[in-house]
Amino acid sequence: MAKRLVVANWKMYIESPESAKEFAKKLRRSAPRFSGADVVLAPSFPLLPVVAAALKGSKIRAGAQNLSAFTDGMHTGEVSARMLSLSGASAVIIGHSERRAKANPALPDARPEWFRGENDDQIALKLRHADAEGLRSILCVGEQERDAGGGHFMQVAKHLRSALDAKPAAARLVIAYEPVWAIGKGAADAMKPQDVQEMVIYIRKIIAESMGRTAALRVPVIYGGSVEPDNARALITEGGVSGFLVGHASADIDSFLAIVQACSC
Ligand code: PGA
Repeated sequence: MAKRLVVANWKMYIESPESAKEFAKKLRRSAPRFSGADVVLAPSFPLLPVVAAALKGSKIRAGAQNLSAFTDGMHTGEVSARMLSLSGASAVIIGHSERRAKANPALPDARPEWFRGENDDQIALKLRHADAEGLRSILCVGEQERDAGGGHFMQVAKHLRSALDAKPAAARLVIAYEPVWAIGKGAADAMKPQDVQEMVIYIRKIIAESMGRTAALRVPVIYGGSVEPDNARALITEGGVSGFLVGHASADIDSFLAIVQACSC
């Protein structure tokens, strides 16, 4: 069986180089306890070199939470795929729902009016640049809400098809299915394992259409959205997923370790 993959999306939770370094070192010391899982820590940009240095020589990888849709030149404030790999990242999260444009302006959304966000074209460009740089791309897809007519499947298919037009290599691609309505809550609000499994099958079908059957079986499909120590085991054993993208529970070393361990037995 392929190793499970657990990605820590620290968002803006961990702020200082000292906390980031201490977390990475503690995780590294515990690594012998999770030999069945690959782990990626994705800090914010300024913390990337610190985390990468603390993990150097271990099997745990450093990743980024975003990258630029540009490759170089006159783009103030942007961070390219090349800059990420030079800073020690070997993976990058792309198209997270907190960065995407609102799927439907009529739907409730906690973000302010002025937030415009990324569209499918930008996300496909980012995927192309990350892949060309040899980074592992963790492509986030997921519906805003569920509806009785199955509109959530259409939304996920749209995210996937437009991004896969960038033709990333299957060996460097990870799909992170994150239903937006399940993000940032508690274990009780996460998606139920049977519903996750249904979507994973659907995602593999869309990958097969775009990239072929071999890729569909090979590309890891991970789940994100209120994964906590309490629900990790059920989601991994009954949800048909290859691992997790963990947000709030990844900022606490004990809860993150518990999730990683749930994936490694
Ligand atoms: P959460 O976030 O685990 O806090 O729900 C997951 C994510 O947004 O990647």
